Amino acid sequence: MTATEPDVIGTRYHRDGWVVLDEGIGEDTVRDLRASVDRISAMVRDEVVHEEDGRAVRALHGCHRFDDVCAALVRHPRLVDLAEALVGERVYVYQFKINVKNPQVGRQWPWHQDFAFWSVEDGMPAPDAVNVAINLDDVHEGNGPLTVLSGSHRLGVVRPAGAAEPVAGGDWRGHVSADLTHGVPGELAADLARHHAPARLLGPAGTISAFHPNVVHSSSDNRSEDRRTVVFVTYNSVRNTPRHVTRPEFLVDRDTTPVGR
Ligand code: SIN
Ligand code: MN
Repeated sequence: MTATEPDVIGTRYHRDGWVVLDEGIGEDTVRDLRASVDRISAMVRDEVVHEEDGRAVRALHGCHRFDDVCAALVRHPRLVDLAEALVGERVYVYQFKINVKNPQVGRQWPWHQDFAFWSVEDGMPAPDAVNVAINLDDVHEGNGPLTVLSGSHRLGVVRPAGAAEPVAGGDWRGHVSADLTHGVPGELAADLARHHAPARLLGPAGTISAFHPNVVHSSSDNRSEDRRTVVFVTYNSVRNTPRHVTRPEFLVDRDTTPVGR
């Protein structure tokens, strides 16, 4: 279900931990961003992460720091207004990535909560941030859409009974691969799904969605013929800056200046 009015968007977001907006980003912006994806994918730099085969591009990180189209996107008034309304504060860009889930070879994102990474790895004090997603391809049931467990953001960070306290460290590649470091075990996600209905964030290219740092989410392998490219901009409250950032700047932006429009 999609939403138009700001109060409906906020109510759904706080109730469900996610919301899909009725009105998307313009066609021209989608076209320009796709061209950026092609351009950046051809670059050899750490920000460009490949699938395990070492060939297909999996994700492009921190592109707002070096690509003008991506830099303009994070300042887009609709995105900034949305983020500020949902977070309730001025915001800055904490993380930016484009997940390019290529046809046939684009791999999964196992069940996890983003705040589990941000709190443990970067010392983010509270989940006072929001992920804003923009589809650059049509996202449908078959090309590995993001699946969220509705309302699971209200549980805080979940962990199986008896599990050890998570510790920071390890290779940052374990935070962006198909085998995630701080995941939610499949059995626990299945258990949560009995009370927190799974929802898929679908929609044509240009669709804008938002989801909460604590919502449990995953997406499956793309076994279809259709690419599934989605931009994820994470806006964090300027009052919620991380306490011990060690990860590369393209994963955690050190510039905490409130984003202008
Ligand atoms: C994420 O969880 O950060 C991304 C998941 C996806 O691209 O489907
Ligand atoms: Mn995530």
